[in-house]
Amino acid sequence: MTQFQFGLEGKHILVIGGGQGMGEATVRLLSEQGCNVAIVDLDRQRAQTVASAVQGKGIRAYPLACDVTDEAALVEAIARIEREFAPLDGMATIVGMAGWARVVEMTTEVWDKDHNRNLRYFFVAAREVGRSLLKRGASGSIVAVASVDGIRSAPNHAAYGAAKAGLISLAKTMAAEWGDNGIRVNVVAPGGIVTPRLPLTDPAAERESMALLPMRKRGTVEDIAKAIVFFLSDMSPYVTGQTLAVDGGYSLAPSSTKTCGPPLYEFSWPWLYSFCLLIPVILASDTRPSPCSD
Ligand SMILES: NC(=O)c1ccc[n+]([C@@H]2O[C@H](COP(=O)([O-])OP(=O)(O)OC[C@H]3O[C@@H](n4cnc5c(N)ncnc54)[C@H](O)[C@@H]3O)[C@@H](O)[C@H]2O)c1
Repeated sequence: MTQFQFGLEGKHILVIGGGQGMGEATVRLLSEQGCNVAIVDLDRQRAQTVASAVQGKGIRAYPLACDVTDEAALVEAIARIEREFAPLDGMATIVGMAGWARVVEMTTEVWDKDHNRNLRYFFVAAREVGRSLLKRGASGSIVAVASVDGIRSAPNHAAYGAAKAGLISLAKTMAAEWGDNGIRVNVVAPGGIVTPRLPLTDPAAERESMALLPMRKRGTVEDIAKAIVFFLSDMSPYVTGQTLAVDGGYSLAPSSTKTCGPPLYEFSWPWLYSFCLLIPVILASDTRPSPCSD
């Protein structure tokens, strides 16, 4: 039987925001596949802790502190990683956050901040890694973490939703420009995920708030890591420019089960029956002249 091959053994992947949550889960999963990992995070301690946790397993890990919203610092961090660690085979960009404000109350400061920490840094990082891959004539895979807010509407965080939608568009453009060079670019769009920043505190209240979600629960950081690793690996060799929602069905229309009103058949038959009875009346009342008559 054919064995599934991730093809990540001995590769070098950069995880931006690898210090906790989805980023940490991605680093752990990559290292389990024998992949060497560079970890960039604002929090130096977090990056070092995650690197130490995976390093003893026959792989190398390279932690580096950097604020990715600072373009010069980010460009230098990627150059340093490629100099001191290894030329990169791929990257996952996981940093992202939302400022909360209704559109009418939103300032351009909030707008710019959300665009910097979600979209702009992805552009800079992917441009740098893309340039390096192109220069070396190497193939590679880049994965960005967006959000279902970039696919649906995003009430109360319009700047974040617009930045994530921009990220989805930018990934498609990069995929189109670099496809011929064997560089794939894809996006993972999480729905509600339990993370260190958004922990599960009250399971009962949580179940209630999830009533309209088809899968009735929030996802885990491992759910996201698996999707990221799928795109980074040889499991998706012919996939590029795609966005995969990992959201328990949130991006679908509301579920058609009991929480969303009575099933259609309960009220549709009487209406259909009444309508059929009315058809002769409707036809008889059509007094318009026939188009064939004089
Ligand atoms: N949690 C959810 O339910 C959810 C839903 C949809 C999308 N997302 C997206 O998933 C991604 C991860 O979200 P999260 O809540 O797990 O993240 P998080 O808050 O756990 O942050 C991940 C890491 O990024 C680092 N970081 C933050 N700002 C940084 C900066 N300026 N420079 C470098 N590193 C920085 C943090 O130190 C942290 O270790 C984001 O892109 C977010 O938009 C999350």
